Amino acid sequence: MSDGDVPAGTAETRALRARMAAEVPDFMIEHIDRVVAAAEPLARRHGADVGRTLLAAQGHDLLRALTDEEWLARAEARGLELLPVERERPVLLHGPLGALELRERFGIEDELVLHAIHWHTPGHPAFGPEAWAMFVADKIEPAKLARRPELQRVIDLAEDSLEAAALAYLELEAERSVREGFTLHPQAIETREALAATLSRR
Ligand SMILES: [Fe+2]
Ligand SMILES: [Fe+2]
Repeated sequence: MSDGDVPAGTAETRALRARMAAEVPDFMIEHIDRVVAAAEPLARRHGADVGRTLLAAQGHDLLRALTDEEWLARAEARGLELLPVERERPVLLHGPLGALELRERFGIEDELVLHAIHWHTPGHPAFGPEAWAMFVADKIEPAKLARRPELQRVIDLAEDSLEAAALAYLELEAERSVREGFTLHPQAIETREALAATLSRR
């Protein structure tokens, strides 16, 4: 975004953005801006509360730019019990830790928003349209699509169903984990199975 442009979002998300910009590097603020912009039409199309969707989108990567050492140190300082996969891939902690810090330091109290942010990497079967709109927007924002053209399928599915789009994304992630040899978060597997079961009943 060039100087002088008003970022997408609501007055509330813009206020949060201004506070986050003091500690979040520019490249991450730019990703977050793209997610907020992508989430808005998804929220409108699927009848989600736009304000809550965009607040989740604005906050979701507060701590994404930390290092492995910093994520682990913050988790340890809180006495969080870590899964083996979180020790192996500490980046998985940026959602849970981010939700905690958004509550404590940024005064966000909306449990739906905080839950969406906590689980934004693996998704969660309890997600509603706000959380799914933010989740899908995070995965298909233009810079990610440019790097992974196969995400176009997720975008196409999101026209009709955010859950179908989320399932397609989680299936791509499962394939990628095999190809690249990383461990999936067990919640990503659970979410994928729950979405598959829900969608097969429709
Ligand atoms: Fe993230
Ligand atoms: Fe993100």
